[in-house]
Amino acid sequence: MKWRALIFLLAIPAFCLGFGDGVREHSLREAAQASGILIGTAVRPAQLSEAAYASTLAREFNMLEPEDVLKWEVVHPERESFDFSQGDQIVDFATRHGMKVRGHTLVWHQQNPKWLTEGKYTSSELAQILEKHIKTVVGHYRGKIFAWDVVNEAFDELRPGKLRSTLWLNQPGIGLAASGSSYIERCFRWAHEADPQALLVYNEAGAEVVNPKSDAIYAMVRDFRQRGVPIDGVGFQMHIENLRADVASISANIKRFTALGVQVHITEMDVALPVDPNGNPRPEDLQQQADIYREVANACLSHPGCTAIQTWGFTDKYSWIGSHSKHTQGAALLFDRSYAAKPAYAALRDVLTTGRR
Ligand code: G3I
Repeated sequence: MKWRALIFLLAIPAFCLGFGDGVREHSLREAAQASGILIGTAVRPAQLSEAAYASTLAREFNMLEPEDVLKWEVVHPERESFDFSQGDQIVDFATRHGMKVRGHTLVWHQQNPKWLTEGKYTSSELAQILEKHIKTVVGHYRGKIFAWDVVNEAFDELRPGKLRSTLWLNQPGIGLAASGSSYIERCFRWAHEADPQALLVYNEAGAEVVNPKSDAIYAMVRDFRQRGVPIDGVGFQMHIENLRADVASISANIKRFTALGVQVHITEMDVALPVDPNGNPRPEDLQQQADIYREVANACLSHPGCTAIQTWGFTDKYSWIGSHSKHTQGAALLFDRSYAAKPAYAALRDVLTTGRR
């Protein structure tokens, strides 16, 4: 009898804390524990002082990534100076809340400072600048940032399968333009020297499905793996528009990449909806959006090598979609502008709760 009374007494506080049936649902990060998958989101440091933003972030996610503040224009504002203040703020938040941090991004053709883009540097000067940038930034966060998007969006939008013409490849490039993806290889090697423990990822847009762009990335990653270039993962951004997602092709793509021995991260998921002038979507679109989140998350969880699902922000209050679509699109994330969970949230949590099959 005594032990029964003891169990009853222990159950009362547990129930009051919300672990009883129907009292409190698991958060995303709690639901993710079963499968061990990382569930993350992009973060803007200016919002961390907003109580609802910070508490939702800490409660729901076990991983985060600075949305903009580790990009060159913020972190490397002048040739000889680096500014880690905003990145450090985010890393500090993550540490306090037991979250992992992804780094974004070391090499991109956008959000670069004028001193760099207008500096008229020679290829050898650019190579030195890039090596120093990668080693300084990765070195600063050594042991704190577990995974880096080393190179972002290096393949062209309009010329399927071709590398994009950029400052880094051939405008004028770091001196390796004649040998295709060699400049990317060099960047991975520099990042690895700066932090041999970090997971090094190639991140891309529009390569989620099997298509000429993902074919080209696949060939590059296979080549890198065969030659021992330190690449550990591929990031598929997953910015979905027009409520269209070919999930069978996404799944086949994840399968072939993970078969190369690299991890796949879904790095920037959002599902943009048409919105009225007040920013409101149609209710039926919210349901379809939820189905897309569910199906994409299922595709990830059905491949053991797909180890992270990250959304590009979490509240519709702060999403890049609005300002980048003249506010005709929006409502792309898991929480609305008042931090209320949307159908997409419940769908994602269901998948995480079920775990890997
Ligand atoms: O820094 C200035 C600030 O000084 C100024 O007051 C403000 C006024 O609009 O603009 C600020 O710059 C903005 C910058 O983000 C930093 O917040 C730019 O206008 C804005 O265009 C820029 O947008 C970012 C975009 O990358 C740049 O292309 C978005 O926030 C960010 O979500 C987006 O993220 C990219 C990923 O890095 C790569 N994959 C695609 C993804 C979506 O485009």
